[in-house]
Amino acid sequence: MWLFNSSIGRKVVMSVTGLALVLFLLFHMSMNLVAIFSADAYNMICAFLGANWYAVVASMLLALLAVVHIIYAIILTLQNLRARGKDRYAIRVRPKGVSWASKNMFVLGVIVVLGLGLHLFNFWYRMQFAELVGDHSIATALEGVAGPHDGAGLIRYTFSQPLFVVLYVVWLLALWFHLTHGFWSALHTLGGSNKKWLPRIQVISIVVTTLIILGFAAVLVYYYAQSLLVA
Ligand code: HEM
Repeated sequence: MWLFNSSIGRKVVMSVTGLALVLFLLFHMSMNLVAIFSADAYNMICAFLGANWYAVVASMLLALLAVVHIIYAIILTLQNLRARGKDRYAIRVRPKGVSWASKNMFVLGVIVVLGLGLHLFNFWYRMQFAELVGDHSIATALEGVAGPHDGAGLIRYTFSQPLFVVLYVVWLLALWFHLTHGFWSALHTLGGSNKKWLPRIQVISIVVTTLIILGFAAVLVYYYAQSLLVA
């Protein structure tokens, strides 16, 4: 089928899954901002999602999107390497207009996936998974965490540790580079290469990505600063 066999079909799959993941990030970041204003309100949202059937279905759909996006990224990267053959080592000067991020999308993607692994262990495993298997001690074993619905407690626990703060900052930076190029590239693939719109979608990509990353960073900085004040 066209979506699997042709290069443009694969790019369309990458773009659609990528844009859906950006939508998730917008939702996730907005939800996290609540944790700055009220820990109780944030925990109410966590309890509403929790391991309820709709949240589990949404998590599975999200995982499917991420897996398809990653598999297609690997296929497209291998295809590009093959197409460039031996010449790929000869290019030392970056072609004009090709940003650093666009040449390093795969490496940035690997950092994003590694960070995601750590993040899912820190949060998803201790919340949704703990609830699914009925073992709340996965969460309560941690200092200051009341249970699998205590998202704010988990954020406090995680971001009071400087190592996690540094790892998350590196992760968010990689995500910024990955998304600024990825978002633009997806809109470009789906919307064609209208000359007037290209610079505009570049600006839209940078603005949306920066808002997403700043939103996540705000929670991190707020909880880290709070941990310093309490100490
Ligand atoms: C400081 C930043 C972040 C905080 C405080 C945070 C917090 C959380 C929390 C509390 C959960 C568990 C929600 C629940 O199970 O009810 C969660 C899950 C998750 N987070 Fe984050 N997150 C952050 C950044 C990110 C980023 C940057 C990404 C993606 C690149 C991400 C992807 C996910 C995913 C995929 C899940 C699992 C969602 C699901 O189970 O459906 N998070 N996060």
